[in-house]
Amino acid sequence: MARANPSKKTPGSQDAIALLKADHRQVEEWFEEILKARSEDWKRDLATRICNALKVHATIEEEIFYPAFLVATEDTDMHHEAEIEHKGAKQLIAEIEATSPDDEYFTPKVKVLSEMIKHHVKEEEQPGGMFSEARDSKMDLDQLGEQLAARKAELEGEADEGDDSTPPRGQRERREPGRVMKSGR
Ligand SMILES: [Fe+2]
Ligand SMILES: [Fe+2]
Repeated sequence: MARANPSKKTPGSQDAIALLKADHRQVEEWFEEILKARSEDWKRDLATRICNALKVHATIEEEIFYPAFLVATEDTDMHHEAEIEHKGAKQLIAEIEATSPDDEYFTPKVKVLSEMIKHHVKEEEQPGGMFSEARDSKMDLDQLGEQLAARKAELEGEADEGDDSTPPRGQRERREPGRVMKSGR
């Protein structure tokens, strides 16, 4: 099995925090858009993107970033609070996935999810928050960034193959340019 030299950063790769912040920005953009959207097809498409992106993001944090954070900082309070917030968000994501945009609870559910995520992202990104503690720790953020990117690609591949509930291909492939690639710093 080929293993990258851990001290050497692959050109073009992001460190763990830049990668996670870029995910946050992408989802924020889609939340903004879904709350303005009028067509039900477009709402369904955006909701699918948001839910899938959040599930992948939560999984890579829980499998890779959070455990490394806990080992490096021993900050159990911050770690556990983040985990619990993920749990709450995942419940609501499952509800949104089961709700159609013509249901009167669809938009309220999306709004509440967007508020939950806003709060959670703030806790991760604010001064003294999880990411700034991670930066001050001995975590190898470049190596973790590569692990996160690899796992993310794997999960996105699985979602593409196995999800029958996603909208037709033509819509799914439509990706906005914009801030996706903006550096997370
Ligand atoms: Fe996050
Ligand atoms: Fe998180």
